Amino acid sequence: MKPRFKHLLGIELLTRSDIIGILDQTESFLEVLKRPIPVVPALRGKTIVNLFFEPSTRTALSFSLAASRLSAHCVNFSFPSSSVQKGETLLDTARNIEAMRVDGVVVRHSMPGAPHFLARRLKAFVVNAGDGCHEHPTQALLDAFTLRQHLGSLKGKRILFVGDIAHSRVARSNIICFSKLGARVAVCGPPTFLPTDIEKLGCEVFYRLDKILYEVDVVNMLRVQNERTDLSLFPSIREYRALYGLTRERLSKLDKSVLVIHPGPVNWGVEMDFEIAEFPQTLILNQVTNGVAVRMAVLYLLAGGHEET
Ligand code: CP
Repeated sequence: MKPRFKHLLGIELLTRSDIIGILDQTESFLEVLKRPIPVVPALRGKTIVNLFFEPSTRTALSFSLAASRLSAHCVNFSFPSSSVQKGETLLDTARNIEAMRVDGVVVRHSMPGAPHFLARRLKAFVVNAGDGCHEHPTQALLDAFTLRQHLGSLKGKRILFVGDIAHSRVARSNIICFSKLGARVAVCGPPTFLPTDIEKLGCEVFYRLDKILYEVDVVNMLRVQNERTDLSLFPSIREYRALYGLTRERLSKLDKSVLVIHPGPVNWGVEMDFEIAEFPQTLILNQVTNGVAVRMAVLYLLAGGHEET
C-alpha cells in the first residue's frame, strides 16, 4: 500500500482509512517480530536519522529497533553531544541532514511545529515523534492498535483520559485518533489541566474521577508532566493522587474487563499506584511491544518499502 501522505506529522492530518491502513500493516510486522529471527529486508539500503532534541526511552529505542528490524541503517543524533550546544539552529541541522542524503528523519522537539518546519525543507520524509504539547502520532497509533487487539474495534467504546490533557501531546493525538475510529471519548482532571475548548474535540468533560471511572471500557492515565507544567496548577501531589490517581482503592472497585493504558513513563504513586502494574488488564508493556511494530509499519509505508516480508 502506498500512503496518500509523504510525512507523518499528526493524526489530525490522517483520515480514518489512513489510520486503519497503518494498523493493518502493523499486524503483519507484529508477526515478523514473533519469528526466531525478527528481521526482514524491506528497507535494505535506506537510512533513517533519529533526531531527538528531548529525552525519550520508548519512542527513540523503538524507532531505532523498527529501522533495524526492517534492515535500514539507523543513525541516532545525540542532542547533548551535538553542535546544537554550540548554537547550531534547527534550519542548519536540517540542511546538514539534507546534505547527508538520508531517506527519513524521525524528530522529537519541544517546539510545536518543529517536524512540520523540517518537512517543508527536507526531501527526506519526516515522522513526528512528539512536538511540544502538540502531537505524538505514533503513540496514538500504537495505543489504538493495542486497544483494537483487545476490543476488536474501538467503535462505540467509552474511553476516559485522566489528568493533564492541556499539556499532553499524547492526549491530543489519542483523542483525535480514537474519535476517528468511532470511540466515545471522555476527559477528567482538574480544571487547570483541561483545555477550555476541549468539547470542540467531541469529548465529554468530568471534574470528579469517581463519577465516570466505573462507567468506561478503557482508562488512559496520563503522566503529570512536571517538565511542562507549573506545580501550582494543582495544590499538591498528595491531593492530586487522592482526587485523580488510579489508587489501589479505586482499582479494587474497577471491573476486571476495564483496560488500563498509560503512555509512559509512569510517575508511580502520583497518577497510578504501583499495584496497577499487576492488574491483568493493564496493557502498559503491551503498548511498548506494539510500538515497535507500529513504527515498522510507519517507516515501511513512508520509505516505500518492498514486499519481501
Ligand atoms: N510514550 C513516550 O513517548 O515515551 P518516551 O518519552 O520514553 O519516548
